[in-house]
Amino acid sequence: MTVDAPAVTAAPSGGGVDAAAAASTHVIAHPHVLYVGTPAYLICSTNADGSPNLAAASSHWALGDMLCLGLEAEGQTAVNIAERPGITISFPSARLWPALVRLSHLTGRDPVPIDKAARYTYEHDKFTAARLTPQPSDLVDAPRVKECALQFEAEVRRLTPGLDGSYFMVEAEVLRVHADPALVPEGTGEIDPRRWHPLVYAFRHFFDRGDEVGWLPSSRLAPPPVID
Ligand SMILES: Cc1cc2nc3c(=O)[nH]c(=O)nc-3n(C[C@H](O)[C@H](O)[C@H](O)COP(=O)(O)O)c2cc1C
Repeated sequence: MTVDAPAVTAAPSGGGVDAAAAASTHVIAHPHVLYVGTPAYLICSTNADGSPNLAAASSHWALGDMLCLGLEAEGQTAVNIAERPGITISFPSARLWPALVRLSHLTGRDPVPIDKAARYTYEHDKFTAARLTPQPSDLVDAPRVKECALQFEAEVRRLTPGLDGSYFMVEAEVLRVHADPALVPEGTGEIDPRRWHPLVYAFRHFFDRGDEVGWLPSSRLAPPPVID
């Protein structure tokens, strides 16, 4: 992706912005993607024949029990969730990054859409291709990814087409959270963020999460932080 350089505008007179100082601290960048860094995830949906389709993704945010996923319209995942709303979202930890590379050129869509034909091939059994294991879910047909320490079962509530038609904003309600017991401090039901290492996807590279630098007073697992 190329991002056109924004026009440099003069600071409003009397305002707090010093245009000369601001201009000297940054350059205009043209990143080919705008993926600044979010946890990657594996979304599993159900094909018409009942088999699972697994796909790598990263675009998402969460508020309350709702997840909003950014999914491209041409994928098999979008086809599936429009008809069968039960999905799982499994979050890989850092060591699983090669599985996402194995999935990165595969689609469950047959035939492969023309726009994807140069980079993608059709694969029906993406769990085997990724060397991952399907694990039955409790509430939805789509299986979870056994190797992932954190897994959500969810149901799609709404698909909203994006402005250019190339993607959907997918709102899904999380119905159940499954976690490796090692992540859940005894008797809390919480995920201990100090034990959880999501796979972070930033500008097409994968990272383990870094050291903890702080927390909010609303943490359920630590006393309020001492700050200035
Ligand atoms: C690390 C990574 C992140 C990705 N993020 C997204 C994403 O957020 N949304 C999306 O629709 N596709 C994303 N993709 C691309 C899909 O995996 C790709 O379109 C795939 O063909 C989808 O599979 P499907 O056609 O079987 O649904 C990502 C791929 C990789 C490897």
